[in-house]
Amino acid sequence: MDLRITNLGAAKRRSPLALSTVRGDRVCNFVSDDERVLYRVVTGGEPAGVDESFERAGPREHVYFEPKTLRAGIVTCGGLCPGTNTVIRTAVMELTYSYGVSTVYGFRYGFAGLVPGSGYEPIELTPELVDDIHHHGGTILGSSRGPQDVGAMVETLERMGIGLLLVLGGDGTMRGADELYREITHRGLPISVIGVPKTIDNDIHLVEKTFGFETAFSIAIQAIRSAHTEAKGYLNGIGLVRLMGRQSGYIAASAAIAEPDVNLVLVPEIPFSLDGERGLLAWIERRLATRRHAVIVVAEGAGQDLLHEETEAIETDASGNVLLRDVGRFLKKRISDHLTARKVSHSLKYIDPSYMIRSAPANPNDSIFCSSLARDAVHAGMCGKTGMLVGLWNNQFTNVPLREVVGRRNTIDPEGDLWLAVLESTGQPSDWGSSCETRTKGE
Ligand code: F6P
Repeated sequence: MDLRITNLGAAKRRSPLALSTVRGDRVCNFVSDDERVLYRVVTGGEPAGVDESFERAGPREHVYFEPKTLRAGIVTCGGLCPGTNTVIRTAVMELTYSYGVSTVYGFRYGFAGLVPGSGYEPIELTPELVDDIHHHGGTILGSSRGPQDVGAMVETLERMGIGLLLVLGGDGTMRGADELYREITHRGLPISVIGVPKTIDNDIHLVEKTFGFETAFSIAIQAIRSAHTEAKGYLNGIGLVRLMGRQSGYIAASAAIAEPDVNLVLVPEIPFSLDGERGLLAWIERRLATRRHAVIVVAEGAGQDLLHEETEAIETDASGNVLLRDVGRFLKKRISDHLTARKVSHSLKYIDPSYMIRSAPANPNDSIFCSSLARDAVHAGMCGKTGMLVGLWNNQFTNVPLREVVGRRNTIDPEGDLWLAVLESTGQPSDWGSSCETRTKGE
């Protein structure tokens, strides 16, 4: 990994923030570029490369931009996510009140709002305008999926005199931000591009937690509680909950650990089989015979290989994401058909909270997280850092180069602590038999 951060140039102006460089004077301190956050904090048995480290995020003593003349911009892209308005609000407040930046624009409907002729004019974001937006889910700027003409976007930034652009989004958005940064660099323009990791899926590479994730899985708990109540209310009751999580099952896994009534979690990272003694259907039969109810949580991306014919064409959305089949309805039918054929009377309740888990405002802990990310994004941009996002690693805020983030994705490690917690909390099988092993190896 190359974790070095690019700067637009030397930061020569003293920061307007009233901070200190002296420890012990009871004044909060600037962060120096030499402060590092270790990639690995656990020693022993680690492979080589343990000395890699991130630049620590935070306010620097010197800034690159003259705050009074700087024009900043904010754009929100991709799926909706709790906390987006909190990030916008905090960034506007930090730019305006802490640094004295006089103009902050909000681009409408994602990257589309940066393209001339889209018909979406930017709006000026003032402290008055953003004052209470954190109470609301969604994004006041609107969002969209998909890439846009990078050259046209750069021309818009140049024409409007934007020096700092904050880009809120998931992995596809960060790819777009990286392309923007590269084109800006190619043209030699003094424009900083700073990403803020926004996705309920929590799958951005080199970022321990994305904003919105915690709120989303916390809301999902309500669906699990209902599923459990329904399941226990009937003989052989089954509560089946489908949760978002396209290629990473963090929402399903975390919600299930937080609400330990769940007996089985299915995620995209761990293949499973339906049939056979070690398959899902036989497991349900055994579970009902001994415990008389079952709660199952399935991530939307789980078991897609069971739903797709190999010869079928794969369709994608505007962001290039594969359009998924509905694994929840598929399982509902297969489980019911199987139990009926086996003459096991049962009552299956299917709950899909769908977009409800991501359209809410951030919960208090996520709000704190959003505010920190937003402030650190502003700090990074003000001192001329670019081509990076603000992340969290080992519970420290970090500056992470976009080039190392794009093209990869965080997924649950089948041998890691999170999955072990799922297995121990649910008591579910740790593997689903030889047919799964074959499938995994063949992928
Ligand atoms: O990327 C986050 C996410 O919430 C996924 O979990 C989900 O598959 C997707 O967005 C759905 O979003 P949309 O319907 O807006 O494309």
